[in-house]
Amino acid sequence: MKTSAARLLLAASLPLLAAANAHDARHHHARQNVDAAASSSVASASAPAASASAPAASSTLLPTPTGTIPPVSLLATNPTAVPLTSIVVNAPSAATSQLPTAAAAGSVPSNIPSAPGIPAIATLAPANYPPLDKPPPTDSPQVLQWIQDVQNSGVTIPSFTPTVAGGCPANPAAVSDSTRCWWTCGGCTRKTDITTCPDKMTWGLTYDDGPAPYTPDLLNYLEQAKLKSTFFVVGSRAISYPALLQQEYLAGHQIAVHTWSHPSLTTLTNEEIIAELGWTKKIIKDVLGVTPTMMRPPFGDIDDRVRAICQAMNLTPVMWTRISPTATFDTDDFNIHGGVTSVQQVLVNWENILGNVSTINTGFIVLEHDLFQQSVEVATGYILPDALAHQPAFRIVPVSECLNIADGDAYIETNNNATNPLPVTGTRIKIHCMI
Ligand SMILES: *[C@@H]1O[C@H](CO)[C@@H](O)[C@H](O)[C@H]1NC(C)=O
Ligand SMILES: *[C@@H]1O[C@H](CO)[C@@H](O)[C@H](O)[C@H]1NC(C)=O
Ligand SMILES: [Zn+2]
Repeated sequence: MKTSAARLLLAASLPLLAAANAHDARHHHARQNVDAAASSSVASASAPAASASAPAASSTLLPTPTGTIPPVSLLATNPTAVPLTSIVVNAPSAATSQLPTAAAAGSVPSNIPSAPGIPAIATLAPANYPPLDKPPPTDSPQVLQWIQDVQNSGVTIPSFTPTVAGGCPANPAAVSDSTRCWWTCGGCTRKTDITTCPDKMTWGLTYDDGPAPYTPDLLNYLEQAKLKSTFFVVGSRAISYPALLQQEYLAGHQIAVHTWSHPSLTTLTNEEIIAELGWTKKIIKDVLGVTPTMMRPPFGDIDDRVRAICQAMNLTPVMWTRISPTATFDTDDFNIHGGVTSVQQVLVNWENILGNVSTINTGFIVLEHDLFQQSVEVATGYILPDALAHQPAFRIVPVSECLNIADGDAYIETNNNATNPLPVTGTRIKIHCMI
């Protein structure tokens, strides 16, 4: 505690530096106490930086309350950021932004003018959907139809038995069976997985598990900063916040499938996986009028059985970048809310990601979330301002754009089938090799 307090005193007396410091200088140049930078505004949770392109603070020393986490310096923070000392487990709930009112039925996002108009939210009846946050039943007429569609797709589903709860230690046979290509235990990927953006210095920005009450704060920041993201949406949240989902989509963000109830997909039967993905596709289609072509497996839990079902359902898996067993591009922001990690550790993880980014010849994808107040606060207050100040500049775009495909290719209805063939088209069978 003494060391970090002394460092803070020293840091507070140092002048600000210009925003455009070279990345290499981040560990050497003067730092600024984050609490001083963050104290200018109280009602700040939803207020984005005055100008995201010219961040106010040049660099920030982040205090390390436990003394076990190394100090981190950022090139920039949001002048209205929530202080790090408030981004903690059991933080009192900050006021949420007002949820949007329903957009006019028939509206289309300006980035996809050929999209069908959005439906009227008033036509949605929650009773027509499965119970929230539970694996949907597999014997409903809808799910039976989707099971039939998967059978008709012609995609062969490997006959692996589901894994059991407990991860790698509980599943030694599955772990050692390399033909499963189980990402969770060893990081195996297939060419059909999206794991990076092809172009160096390009960040395929993603947020998972929303839409949720603090998502509007993130959307406000992204709008001010002129950034677009991909949102991996939980079906149970989409039926709960349909106007918010429409707002995301109409603002030009990419909407993609997570699942209905956020299970580890490899633990489910084929039918249960189809129900999770099918209902999430359906609620998004019912709210937006379009059906996503991309999905992210919760916890990254995917193997060749899950991959085949995704392919049969016209969903391309999007992971996050992993360059070695110890360098996976996961901020762990999700775990601040539950007290499993600290915001300081999340920023250390972020700095490690940036360090690793400089060593690879591709772009990258990072795991972040918009479900909890804390993860939105660290994104808008710290991670995004720091990324925007990075030199050389990052190109920060949704995953579809980082892949250099058209925005319309993020959805089945607007997909350009000539340039971006869907894995399975109608009842016409088109089998892609999985390997
Ligand atoms: C890459 O990340 C790992 C931890 O995830 C970290 O230990 C390592 O220092 C990072 N590499 C660079 C060059 O920053
Ligand atoms: C591409 O194919 C899908 C599935 O058959 C169809 O719904 C969609 O309208 C097609 N795209 C275009 C631009 O016609
Ligand atoms: Zn998730």
